[in-house]
Amino acid sequence: MEGGKVALVSGANKGLGFETSRQLAQLGITVLMGARSVGRGKAAAKELQKAGLPVEFIRLDVTKKDQIDQAAAMIKKRFGRLDILVNNAGISEEEAGTQNSTETVSGNVLRRTFDTNFFGLVELTQKFLPLIRKSPAGRIVNVASGRPSVVRERNRNACTAMLHVLQARCSSRSMWTTYAWTSAEES
Ligand SMILES: NC(=O)c1ccc[n+]([C@@H]2O[C@H](COP(=O)([O-])OP(=O)(O)OC[C@H]3O[C@@H](n4cnc5c(N)ncnc54)[C@H](OP(=O)(O)O)[C@@H]3O)[C@@H](O)[C@H]2O)c1
Repeated sequence: MEGGKVALVSGANKGLGFETSRQLAQLGITVLMGARSVGRGKAAAKELQKAGLPVEFIRLDVTKKDQIDQAAAMIKKRFGRLDILVNNAGISEEEAGTQNSTETVSGNVLRRTFDTNFFGLVELTQKFLPLIRKSPAGRIVNVASGRPSVVRERNRNACTAMLHVLQARCSSRSMWTTYAWTSAEES
C-alpha cells in the first residue's frame, strides 16, 4: 500500500476541479484527477506533473457505474483508503434559444443535469464511503451552488454574513461533509 494522503477530485480537468487539484497537490497530497475525457484528463494532469506536483489522471465519468467501480477498485488496491473526496463534477446546460425557466426547461436538460449533479454525486459518494471510513480523518467536499441552500434562502442576511463554508457533522466521528459555495454567488 502506498502511504501519504490521497484525494480524488471529480471533474478535475478544468475550472474549480483543476485548481482544487493543484492546491491539494501543493500540500503534498497525492491527487487523482478524475475526468470523463481521457485526452482532457491526461493533458490536465500532465500540466500539474510538469510543475512537479503529485497528481495522476483517473478516468471517471460520474454518470457511468462501471467507471466508478473501476476507480474504487484501483484506489482500494493501491492505497487501501481515500482521505479526501471532492465531488466537483457538474454541468449547467441551457438548450439553444431557451432559458432554464420553469416553463421552458426541457426534460432532457433536467435528466442530464440530475444524472450528473445529483445521482453522480450520490453514487460516487456511496461507492467511496467504505474507503473514506478507512481514513483516520476522511473528508467529503461537495462543491455546490448556494442557490438551493434552504438555510441560506430562509435567512439570507445571516447566512451571507456567516456561512461561506458550512460544516455538518456526519455519523462517523472522524468524517465531516463540507458544503461550499463560491463567494461570487454571495454577492
Ligand atoms: N464556477 C461557479 O461560479 C460555480 C457556481 C456554482 C456552482 N458551481 C459548481 O462547481 C463545480 C465546478 O464548476 P466549474 O465552474 O469549475 O465548472 P466547469 O469549468 O464547467 O468544470 C466542470 C467539470 O466537471 C466535469 N464534468 C461534467 N460532467 C461530468 C461527468 N459526467 N463526469 C465527470 N466529470 C464531468 C467537466 O468535464 P468536461 O471538461 O469533460 O466537460 C469539467 O471538468 C460544478 O459542480 C458547478 O456546478 C460552480
